[in-house]
Amino acid sequence: MRHSPSLLTALLAACSAAPRVEMPFPADPHSFAEPQRVRSRHVELDLALDFGTKVARGHVWHDLERTDATAPFVVDTDGLAIGGAFDQDGRPLFVDLASLPDPLRGQRLAVRLRADTERVRIDYSTAPDAEAMQWLAPEQTDGGKQPFLFTQGQAILTRSWIPLQDSPSVRVTWQARIQSPAGLVPLMSAMRREERADGVHFAMDRAVPPYLIALACGDLASRPLSDRCAVWAEPSMLDLAASELADTEAMVAACEGLFGPYRWGRYDVLVLPPSFPFGGMENPCLTFATPTILAGDKSLVSLIAHELAHSWSGNLVTNATWRDFWLNEGFTVYLEHRIMERVFGRDRAAMETNLGMQELADELRSLPEADQRLHIDLAGRNPDDGMTGVPYQKGAAFLRRLEQLFGRERVDAFLRRWFDEHAFRSVTTATFVDWLQRELLAQDPAAAADIDVTRWIEGAGLPADAPAADSALFAAVDAQLAALRSGTAPDRLDVTGWVTQQWLRFLHGLGDCTPERMGELDGAFQFTRTGNSEILCAWLALSIRADYRGTDRRLDLFLLTVGRRKFVKPLYEAMLARPDGLARAKAIYSKARPRYHAVTQRTLDAMIAAADR
Ligand code: BES
Ligand code: ZN
Repeated sequence: MRHSPSLLTALLAACSAAPRVEMPFPADPHSFAEPQRVRSRHVELDLALDFGTKVARGHVWHDLERTDATAPFVVDTDGLAIGGAFDQDGRPLFVDLASLPDPLRGQRLAVRLRADTERVRIDYSTAPDAEAMQWLAPEQTDGGKQPFLFTQGQAILTRSWIPLQDSPSVRVTWQARIQSPAGLVPLMSAMRREERADGVHFAMDRAVPPYLIALACGDLASRPLSDRCAVWAEPSMLDLAASELADTEAMVAACEGLFGPYRWGRYDVLVLPPSFPFGGMENPCLTFATPTILAGDKSLVSLIAHELAHSWSGNLVTNATWRDFWLNEGFTVYLEHRIMERVFGRDRAAMETNLGMQELADELRSLPEADQRLHIDLAGRNPDDGMTGVPYQKGAAFLRRLEQLFGRERVDAFLRRWFDEHAFRSVTTATFVDWLQRELLAQDPAAAADIDVTRWIEGAGLPADAPAADSALFAAVDAQLAALRSGTAPDRLDVTGWVTQQWLRFLHGLGDCTPERMGELDGAFQFTRTGNSEILCAWLALSIRADYRGTDRRLDLFLLTVGRRKFVKPLYEAMLARPDGLARAKAIYSKARPRYHAVTQRTLDAMIAAADR
């Protein structure tokens, strides 16, 4: 296995020395901002939403902290029409907007400051195709009568709807006023919301990274789940959403019991229309979620545990740059499993951990070595490229390994202190390694001798000491798969009491099937008619691979309504892997593309273009 000598190695060697002083702003290759010279501390947003032209128009105020008296205020923008910049007294300031956009970072905007400039106002409007924003036609909603808008900021898309210093190391408090058409309800990732005559006002008084500023607007209503939790959705979805998410409060309480107080006031969930490109997004106080988790039996709510867990790992303690993304996602997957274990029991958590590790193993087989490192080099690349199973599953496996070596009690205390001591701060991998060394490894050198931290963080692949994720309930599934392979007919298998995770194990273990065998399986278990999106997606992918045509209509409908990238990507991939697949994929995609968010479009455009070459 290759080891790369690195900053981390040097750090580990020097770690018995005094604690390092963290650089406040590590270099961020994904932002033009120069926060070490002039930084924004507070953002005041004022926007009017125009659904007709798909434009948000208004201004943003930045409260500045100036370290370098002669430096300009540099912000990131992408596709914004800039109307001008002004100081606190309304005097115009000279602006320099890069004429040529950088393919990754967008357009640098520099505002020249006067000696006495403390606040800067930037007037602007967004482009109709702003990457963060998806403006939905009424047909794309459940109600079908009103349009809908939502934003998705992570990783570097916030700059396409707000001119700001779009680096996760530049935390800001913020407030906003949103004006929207009558009948539509605006919501934001804020601690406070107030409806006034001049619009809806929001405030977030904890400093957050810019990717966590989010907005949604549509025909929305809410239902309380507890004193501090509620679900928001289109009125027609509210009953289903509220019963599915009934355990939300129990999850918050479980995570608080493990890792310290929930520090954000309310925890609400917004169920979006199905074009939402992710499963979930941890927008503070208001998780954004895909409606595809509403299975009717709470079987997919680990996604809520995950987004909730980000309230500690990610939102409280944030990756300082996108190469430190595993500090957000690896920790969060670990916390997610701990929440699931507390609320739904060990069997459920063990199955979900196992499925995650299986996905990672599958993915590692085709991932370049450089992308198998937790501490990934993303300079010159879209941070989206780092969104593989590695930061998620390998990151979580690393924490489970620590748990195995040092015991739960010590690792829980260690994590809780990590969150407490770094609350509302952005941290690098080096800071974590330093902390790990002092606060855990140094306490028990004998246990520490059994883990090669540099190998885990800087090396490729899954280290041999990664803990196994065994599940007795999966052993039962494997037995039935063996029976199937040795000739038992599908309708004679014993599937009594199987839960969703077991079915996913089953579908994964089927391997390649003939169309006839697929037909038998469908006859026995009605997969094509399932209301569970995870099972359906696995089944549709198998069908494409097997050229089983019994799912054709369901597949078309699914791809035309669901824009969740994790689901649609493997389906197009499966089509493209077949001899006749390119034409089929293109035919469906040409109809579906306008209904997908830019994030999903970008991934599929590249995939289909590559197959077309
Ligand atoms: N923060 C991520 C989503 C994300 C990551 C968006 C990077 C943009 C860039 C979110 O917490 C997440 O991980 N969502 C997962 C679900 C989760 C259960 C693994 C998803 O959407 O699939
Ligand atoms: Zn996440």
